Amino acid sequence: MIFDEVLEAKPDPIFGLTGSFKADVRENKVNLLVGIYKDEKLRSPLLPSVEKARELVGRQEEVADYLPFEGLSGFVDEIGKVIFGQGWDQEHSRIFGAQAVGGTGALRLGAEFLAQEVSKRVSISHPTWPNHRGVFERAGFSVDSYTYYSSEKKWFDLEGMCKSLETLEEKSIVVLHAACHNPTGCDPSREEWEQISDLMLRRGLVPFFDFAYQGFGLGVDEDAYPVRLFYERGHEMLVAYSCSKNFSLYNQRVGALYVVTPDPVVKMRVGSQVNGCIRTLYSNPPAYGARLVWEVLKNSTLKKEWEGDLKAIRSRLSSAREQLVSGLTSQAKRKDFHYLRNHKGMFSFVDLDKSQAQQLIDEYAIYLIDNGRISIAGLTSENIDYVVRAILAVSDR
Ligand code: LMR
Repeated sequence: MIFDEVLEAKPDPIFGLTGSFKADVRENKVNLLVGIYKDEKLRSPLLPSVEKARELVGRQEEVADYLPFEGLSGFVDEIGKVIFGQGWDQEHSRIFGAQAVGGTGALRLGAEFLAQEVSKRVSISHPTWPNHRGVFERAGFSVDSYTYYSSEKKWFDLEGMCKSLETLEEKSIVVLHAACHNPTGCDPSREEWEQISDLMLRRGLVPFFDFAYQGFGLGVDEDAYPVRLFYERGHEMLVAYSCSKNFSLYNQRVGALYVVTPDPVVKMRVGSQVNGCIRTLYSNPPAYGARLVWEVLKNSTLKKEWEGDLKAIRSRLSSAREQLVSGLTSQAKRKDFHYLRNHKGMFSFVDLDKSQAQQLIDEYAIYLIDNGRISIAGLTSENIDYVVRAILAVSDR
């Protein structure tokens, strides 16, 4: 017997409940689990701009060859511009970019490179996207966490974060959410990002931005603010980028990793090592999804349409969030739910304990993560009153 001692793994905290949701026969069930954008009819179609790119790409001749290790250069270049803005145009020669297998693949690729070249110590926010810990642990890191959220203030806790970062060893990696913090929906202000940058420069810490929701917060350029700020201030850092949400390419696994180095010579050496990691992890990335993204971004008309698609997403999310907040605040007898109004992006962090979250699943068929994270995209004008009543029933006592 070889495999008989293998124990069953724990279910994934996010995807694990999807099966239970599908199997649930209750008619009023509501899925607030996975961060997938859905329209008011709960459909997740390709964004219209990406659909057009698909038609254009479909007509072009495809060459059945491998992509280079670092992927499609046009894609890497266009995403570089979207992330770094002017910084990419003027001096992109000090940033190495490579296509990656989704945002998770970009994180893992960055982790491989950092473990080999820089440090195996990483600090992730508390709370964070649960997969951060797993990605880094599997790459051999020792993972600890920094304070991010104050349950008392129900908001981002700058003081707590700075206190935690002060204790880290030099060259420790710090995973930062560039925009639309997952799960809390609470982002630092511009001034707070400046303070975080000051501290990290002074302490010699290595920022690793996870950028999975560009365009879901305030806008494409606005959401890139912290990354551009850190770049301008001379941080050596990494950015893991995902095109899953903002190009609706969840199942194409399109992402990218950027490593900001001090100069073109170092960039060349860093690039050779990242390429070495790619070669042994998956050799070459897939072409199709990156080809679609490139088609959208290189065409100024399609790029404008894409920005319009993202604006429509933001507007749907903020109106669903607003309906939730006004429903809760107007009907609550004890609790104050105003804090939800300041959240950004796909998620809101509702002040619920584990048993209350479980009660929502068991008694109301409303599926959410057990820390109180809800995906706002699962709310519609049809289910919102039901969700409001259920949240109040389990928590406003
Ligand atoms: C989420 O947080 O729900 C998404 O990013 C999907 C995932 O991979 O967990």
